[in-house]
Amino acid sequence: MVYLSKSILRGEVEISGSKNAFFPAVGAGITLGAKKITIKNTPLVRDIYVMLKIIEELGGNFEIEGNKVSIYTEKIEPKLIDQETFSRIRGGVVIFGALLSRFGKAYIPYPGGCKIGKRPIDQHVKAAKDLGFYVEETEYGVKAYGEIKKNKISFDIKTVTGTENAILMSIRSSKEVEITNYAKEPEVQELIKYLEKYGVRFIKEEDKIIIDPTSKEEQEEVEFELIPDRIEAGTFLISAASTEGRVRIKNVIPEHLEIVIQKLKEAGAKIHISQSEIEVEGKPIYDPLYIVADSYPDFATDLQPQITVMLLKSKSKSVIEERVFPERVNHVFELRKMGAQIDISGNKIIIYPGKIYGGTSVEAKDLRSAASLVIAGLIAEGAPTFIRNFEIIERGYEKFLVKIQKLGAKFYKELKEGIKDVPNFA
Ligand code: EPU
Repeated sequence: MVYLSKSILRGEVEISGSKNAFFPAVGAGITLGAKKITIKNTPLVRDIYVMLKIIEELGGNFEIEGNKVSIYTEKIEPKLIDQETFSRIRGGVVIFGALLSRFGKAYIPYPGGCKIGKRPIDQHVKAAKDLGFYVEETEYGVKAYGEIKKNKISFDIKTVTGTENAILMSIRSSKEVEITNYAKEPEVQELIKYLEKYGVRFIKEEDKIIIDPTSKEEQEEVEFELIPDRIEAGTFLISAASTEGRVRIKNVIPEHLEIVIQKLKEAGAKIHISQSEIEVEGKPIYDPLYIVADSYPDFATDLQPQITVMLLKSKSKSVIEERVFPERVNHVFELRKMGAQIDISGNKIIIYPGKIYGGTSVEAKDLRSAASLVIAGLIAEGAPTFIRNFEIIERGYEKFLVKIQKLGAKFYKELKEGIKDVPNFA
């Protein structure tokens, strides 16, 4: 639980490693047969710990030293993972492709993750079937086994973890595999780089990738370094612009945020970019935007809830078309409690300009809506905004309160026992 007061964010913030690039790194290490996987720049957030628990349940173990995580996989077996653990995150689903590749069999419960609409795994199953694995769908989950008999996977829709799984399971093939309609998110590109580092060859075309796993080099140990988290970076850029502040984000890859930068500029925010830093300077009123949230390189759905709040400060109506998760609107219902005028029409979120007010209790129901409610609390007029279930933010943002406090956010956090542990509340 946290209480937030109107604040202006100013200063510098260091971006952590990418949460969603960690899962495919684990998958790549297992697939490559490595006994030890070292992953540097790991953000120590809750979803990562759940993934490490999954590794333990499979028989592996790990060590954490600062932001370096070492995973030991020698004793890993393709056994069934506890449903309760598995359903706490989405990224764990890459274990399916990794185990199938390393052992020729895998059995996973249906995964969970943030409640942001339907999240089936039919495309992951299709990938395994396309390759000729035997696949059984049980009430509990998905079981796959056998050898690769075919070499073409074709996705009906673009899926990030589905593409990661398809790449991982293809590494078992004794010849080239072709994947069409693949997702191009930077985290998928990183998986390709992890595997290229150890000899797997990829040819990337506009709509397909061809994987040649035959040149894979068997490794005792592999090491990967995670890219900066583009969603954390985007969250800080949007937060700074929303609060009319000025923030420099450090340790980023600006190319991964191209559309976000373009949209912030189009709205009227000032942006300065250097090699690995972006500075944003906000203002009180923005030009309205039309945003399409879709797969990369389009605007990230994971930043849709955050920019919804900023667009309350537009001169006139803004529209966001949410094409990835049309039901990702948890934040809208909470923002309305603060006085926001936002309509939902099909997959469109229509945002009318207007002030929002604190003195309200709102509930964070998923990771990114928690971030959006923080921004709302920072721009709300009057009394503080009380965010229930705020802790969900720890699933994906490393040291979030420490970082926003350094930037000047005024809040206090109430621990379960009622102790206020951040004394900077104004
Ligand atoms: N979909 C299907 N069938 C499938 C797979 C996906 O219909 O088998 C649909 C989904 O319902 C959705 C669309 O395809 O409508 C795209 O989903 P995708 O599979 O790409 O999402 P994901 O792999 O489950 C990852 C991120 C999410 C992020 C999405 C979209 C990880 C661990 N998670 O999820 O991140 O929103 O891609 O970019 O990589 C977050 O970090 O807060 C988060 C939710």
